[in-house]
Amino acid sequence: MTGTATQDATRTERAPALRPLTTNVGMEVCGIDLAHPAPADLSFIIDAFNTHGALLFRGQNLSNEQLVGFSRSLGDLDEAPVNENGQTAVPGLPELYVISNIEGTDGAPIGSLGSGEAAWHTDMSYLENPPDASLLYAIEIPPAGGDTWIANMYATLDHMPADLRSQIEGRTIKHDGTYNSGGYVRQGLVANDDPLTCEGTLHPAVCAHPVTGRPVLYLGRRRNAYVDGLSLEESEALLDALWAHATRPEFCYAHKWRIGDVLMWDNRATLHRRDEFDATARRLMHRTQVRGKSVPRPA
Ligand code: SIN
Repeated sequence: MTGTATQDATRTERAPALRPLTTNVGMEVCGIDLAHPAPADLSFIIDAFNTHGALLFRGQNLSNEQLVGFSRSLGDLDEAPVNENGQTAVPGLPELYVISNIEGTDGAPIGSLGSGEAAWHTDMSYLENPPDASLLYAIEIPPAGGDTWIANMYATLDHMPADLRSQIEGRTIKHDGTYNSGGYVRQGLVANDDPLTCEGTLHPAVCAHPVTGRPVLYLGRRRNAYVDGLSLEESEALLDALWAHATRPEFCYAHKWRIGDVLMWDNRATLHRRDEFDATARRLMHRTQVRGKSVPRPA
């Protein structure tokens, strides 16, 4: 990840610092205002991001344009997918994706994913060239629930039993494009629960991270996944074992949101999921995605 940011003449000098979120994944970045990042802040963020896989910035106060502007300083942005309401996000800002259960005046949700659980996944891995990074900004949060979990796929692979690892070396996995993580059928597709025939893309099971070069497990999402070349039964058994290992608690961080948090994760090195929350409560998040600079390559 490379980029530039504009210096704001009014910002005060202070050294950014990192604080671990948990043992195996993520850092909180203290002392950076994402609305006015300096070039030195940006290189600090990029180094920390590539090393730690997920970064949390508390207490941010960003307009839509500032969220998009900061995200763009990390690389080109993807346009947001079409929301479940059939609309593309925010007029004039096609890069902004709205994740929300809040209903608009027409009674339809203003964003995607509702209030249910969002299953473990990495963003848009059904594409040939999935996004490198995602940034999620909390605007409204429910009083309880809706935590976002991150799992570290370097640590998962590093601690994988040898017999399990030997079964995936050199293999590819199909990443389903039919359903989003909330279980909704994506716009333009039809429901299909057959891993052999569903829409999707094959990616290496173990990738070389394009920046760090480290081998990393690349699972995408469980639903409709398929290990190419195996019988469906063998593939299901292997995937069940991989997912049980990859989401063990010691590889995970559960983020309890505060308004103004920005959580940023590396889609090439992490999985994420979301807890359900009370459907009558309001949750509003804005997401941007930094476009993939290279397709996933085998380690
Ligand atoms: C996502 O899966 O990208 C959204 C996670 C969340 O709503 O916390």
